[in-house]
Amino acid sequence: MPRRDPPDPGTRTLRAHEADESERRFAEPANAHLLDDLFEPRIRVDASPIQFPYSDLLEGEAKLVASAIESRQREFSTGRVLARRLLRQMNVADFELLRDEDRVPKWPVGIVGSISHTGNLCAVAIAPESEYRGIGLDVEPDRPVGPGIEGRVCTPLEVAWLETGPTADRGQRCRMIFSIKEAVYKAFYPRLRESWGFRDVSVELDLAAQRFTAKAPPSSGSARVEGRLLRRAGWIISGIAIR
Ligand SMILES: CC(C)(COP(=O)(O)OP(=O)(O)OC[C@H]1O[C@@H](n2cnc3c(N)ncnc32)[C@H](O)[C@@H]1OP(=O)(O)O)[C@@H](O)C(=O)NCCC(=O)NCCS
Repeated sequence: MPRRDPPDPGTRTLRAHEADESERRFAEPANAHLLDDLFEPRIRVDASPIQFPYSDLLEGEAKLVASAIESRQREFSTGRVLARRLLRQMNVADFELLRDEDRVPKWPVGIVGSISHTGNLCAVAIAPESEYRGIGLDVEPDRPVGPGIEGRVCTPLEVAWLETGPTADRGQRCRMIFSIKEAVYKAFYPRLRESWGFRDVSVELDLAAQRFTAKAPPSSGSARVEGRLLRRAGWIISGIAIR
């Protein structure tokens, strides 16, 4: 019987307001240049529509999603195919990208990376661990969040920032904050193995500069981290690289 992966507590409520079809109407199909300038050039990126079938997975990867529904198999497969392409550029050939018990991809020794997918977009970033302690990537449709999300995701200061902008843009701005927090979490989690709530991270966003600063909990060992947020082709794309 096909099944989904276990529901993710972090994004379950947000995702409940979305449907793949409506995402497709708002956003353009992804291409390899979608993530240009998100990171420093040393970080390799790729993006694609979710298009690679289950049969493109290597044996061990295929076992991980053998009983998942087809859409989940395709998003998983697309992430693995893109990751493999990027790893090849770093002289790692035909790498089977498994995952651990926390769903974190088990990258080759010496490499850090991040995978994100939503609607019909999958994106991947990888970098040498000798230069970066972690990479966080998140992609979202550039659409307002649903009702009730703001209070779960935003700190009081972030709500104050939302209030300074046009009312019509508020739901999308909230989604940007959500996306940044997901990226920050994904950059730190593989090393720290610590679960954070959305309000444990606070974000300051400069929309004109397409840059953000995030304050992570003290256990992260980083007082403030900086990253980029792009609004491009109907997508919100957040990226953070921790040195
Ligand atoms: C990890 C998490 C952020 C990813 O969210 P998602 O809704 O599945 O969305 P994405 O598509 O962007 O990311 C999924 C990919 O992230 C990777 N991933 C999963 N768990 C991860 C983790 N704990 N750390 C880093 N990467 C992780 C996987 O590669 C996964 O794709 P795959 O299963 O196809 O390999 C989310 O599942 C989660 O656990 N959230 C916890 C609560 C939270 O978000 N807190 C934020 C506080 S600041």
